[in-house]
Amino acid sequence: MNVVVVIPTYNERENIRVLLTKLADAFGTKQTYTISYLVVDDTSPDGTATVVKAYQKTHKNVYLISGKKEGLGKAILRGMTEAFEHMHADVVLQIDADLSHDPSVAPRLLEAIEKGATFAVGSRYIPGGAIPENWGLIRKIYSIVGNNIVRFGLWHPNVRDWTGGYRAYTRHFYDTTHREMEQYSGYVFQIAFLHKSIHHGAIVREIPFHFTDRLYGHSKIAPAEYIFNIYRYIALARIEEFIHGSFGKFLVVGGIGFVLNAGILVLLHKAHMSATYANLVGAAVAIFSNYNLNNLWTFRHKKISGAGQYVTKLLHFYATSAFGVIVIQTGTIALGVRLFGDRWYFDFFLLGTAFIMVWNYVIYSKVIWKK
Ligand code: GDD
Ligand code: MN
Repeated sequence: MNVVVVIPTYNERENIRVLLTKLADAFGTKQTYTISYLVVDDTSPDGTATVVKAYQKTHKNVYLISGKKEGLGKAILRGMTEAFEHMHADVVLQIDADLSHDPSVAPRLLEAIEKGATFAVGSRYIPGGAIPENWGLIRKIYSIVGNNIVRFGLWHPNVRDWTGGYRAYTRHFYDTTHREMEQYSGYVFQIAFLHKSIHHGAIVREIPFHFTDRLYGHSKIAPAEYIFNIYRYIALARIEEFIHGSFGKFLVVGGIGFVLNAGILVLLHKAHMSATYANLVGAAVAIFSNYNLNNLWTFRHKKISGAGQYVTKLLHFYATSAFGVIVIQTGTIALGVRLFGDRWYFDFFLLGTAFIMVWNYVIYSKVIWKK
């Protein structure tokens, strides 16, 4: 395994040499993989590059690329490009230069990769990990709440630390996301990269570590801009998932079902069938259409096949759909009319319809088309 440790630096003159030394100590000489270090410096005015060049004289596996300052995200992406495309890395390990990320944990991130994870995340929010004790209450709350907003906002509850920059990942995620990642130049890069990697099948494993405050220099984060970018990222990601995800298709399929149901009802009623029977026929046809369209399209990634399964699930589908219409939708109308009077019947019909949509979607995705 060929590992490149990518270290973004901006004014880290006092830290970079200590970090490189501690990392080398942490890895020792026994490891089975080759390790190189790539410092991605944005022409720091404090002369970080000079320190690195001096260090390179005695350490052959240390590399340096210098660019102009375009933000942390751009720097990391530049580091990945160099590592994966020119240095033939299999894995990139990314770490802050300011010693906030305990270097002695780095081998554990790589161990996780060797054991089958494809994206190892240094984590402050799982047992064994921590944010600094000396942080004030407000800062601690910011950190914890912020992470949970991302965690639940993107709806990946099983990953705890979204914002940190201490990670190791395989080249697959660079290959599949680097074009899209160009648009995230700031700190939101970390969130976006982990999120997109999960969508590309990342097997995430979190490794605990204690985050410590930097001793030298200062943070380059711009909190207001960062928070704005986080909210924007979450909002756009959810809208995208909504449009391209199964919920949008579910709505289209439901719409077709509705048109079928209404059309058959009107036709049969015109042919002198009673409205009740006509609607039952219409609903039965609509449900059959919903079942097949959802199976072939909405949930095609979990398609039901085989005659036995097809019939069993179809009956299941009729039963839960009937429950939705009879108990949930009609029940809402009955209850609403009783409590608020008959003139609200149509409003409760709409509310009941919203309830069955939720009910159906949950049952379809969690029960009928369960993976
Ligand atoms: N090349 C380059 N260019 N490096 C940068 C830039 C840049 O524009 N901005 C920051 N860095 C480097 C710093 O020199 C440091 O090594 C690392 O990126 C992290 O920057 P800090 O300025 O120390 O960030 P922080 O401590 O406030 O933020 C930490 O927490 C954030 C939120 O949890 C980091 O771990 C971030 O990665 C994380 O998103
Ligand atoms: Mn820092």
